[in-house]
Amino acid sequence: MPKNILVTYYTQSGQLEEILTNLTRNFREQNEDFTVTYYQIRMKKEFPFPWPSDVFFNTFPESYLQIPSEIIPPPDEVLNKDYDLVIFGYQVWFLTPSIPTISFLKSEYGKKLLSGKPLITVSGTRNMWMLSQEKLKKYFKELNAKLVGNIALVDRHDNYTSVITILKWMKTGQKEMPKPWPDAGVSRKEIAESGKYGEIIQQYAQTGDYDGMQKELVKNGAVEIRPFLLKVERVGNRLFTVFAKKVQQNPDKRKFWVNTFKFYLMVAIWVISPIVLILFNLTTPIFWKKRKREIKYFQGI
Ligand SMILES: Cc1cc2nc3c(=O)[nH]c(=O)nc-3n(C[C@H](O)[C@H](O)[C@H](O)COP(=O)(O)O)c2cc1C
Repeated sequence: MPKNILVTYYTQSGQLEEILTNLTRNFREQNEDFTVTYYQIRMKKEFPFPWPSDVFFNTFPESYLQIPSEIIPPPDEVLNKDYDLVIFGYQVWFLTPSIPTISFLKSEYGKKLLSGKPLITVSGTRNMWMLSQEKLKKYFKELNAKLVGNIALVDRHDNYTSVITILKWMKTGQKEMPKPWPDAGVSRKEIAESGKYGEIIQQYAQTGDYDGMQKELVKNGAVEIRPFLLKVERVGNRLFTVFAKKVQQNPDKRKFWVNTFKFYLMVAIWVISPIVLILFNLTTPIFWKKRKREIKYFQGI
């Protein structure tokens, strides 16, 4: 009997779809051993892409507060199969799994498809996914789904370059940037090479014993941790909580608070975070052990 693999994802630009298509190529080719079912989450009310700037920032409160929207029910041929493994693709919106991801997880369909299953997360983000992964773990636990692997593909350029290029990409829909800027998002090369992770997963999926798989994935570049970004994410989460609550508690002043958030975000990225970076680097010898521990934790599952 072939093993059934379910690949779930949402994508706006097609980046995550391309990653997952390449990553699962070998499963499609080994069609005597595996069947692959792809399920793309679709929203009843779609988010625009490219994003008008005001809509982009207006998505922040619901995104950060993990408030779901309605999804279109998955087709019956997706729902009526029993799966041996789920490859769970997601992207991050405002330091949180995207609204479509959360909407699927909180839906009856998410429950039906993921409950009790072994699951591998695959993210395609700018570079801040670590605390989103922690947020996802809570859902997986509730669904009794077992996280057995994680692959986190990011833009490997420095934090500032990637902010500039991603904002332009989101606004124009064009991943290609005028020179000297590098293209936005996960690099072409890395997307093209993501099949190597599928080959590793395949060896373990054959037996259903995933012991040791994450180590092998990490050895092949699946998860790079930059402790400085973790620091930024932690500070960001604290401040995002304040702004999201302000919007929630003052619906009549939504526009004001969303605009204030947008202004704050720019100050945080361009003024506060360089200062944090300097302090962070200066304190490296003091926190060396703690940072090593954190790298190990976030490279694990
Ligand atoms: C509204 C919004 C907010 C985002 N916030 C983050 C973020 O906080 N951290 C991050 O690493 N990437 C962030 N991204 C980038 C996405 O994670 C993702 O890489 C990008 O949208 C491409 O995904 P796609 O496959 O849906 O096209 C954000 C994107 C959008 C649209």
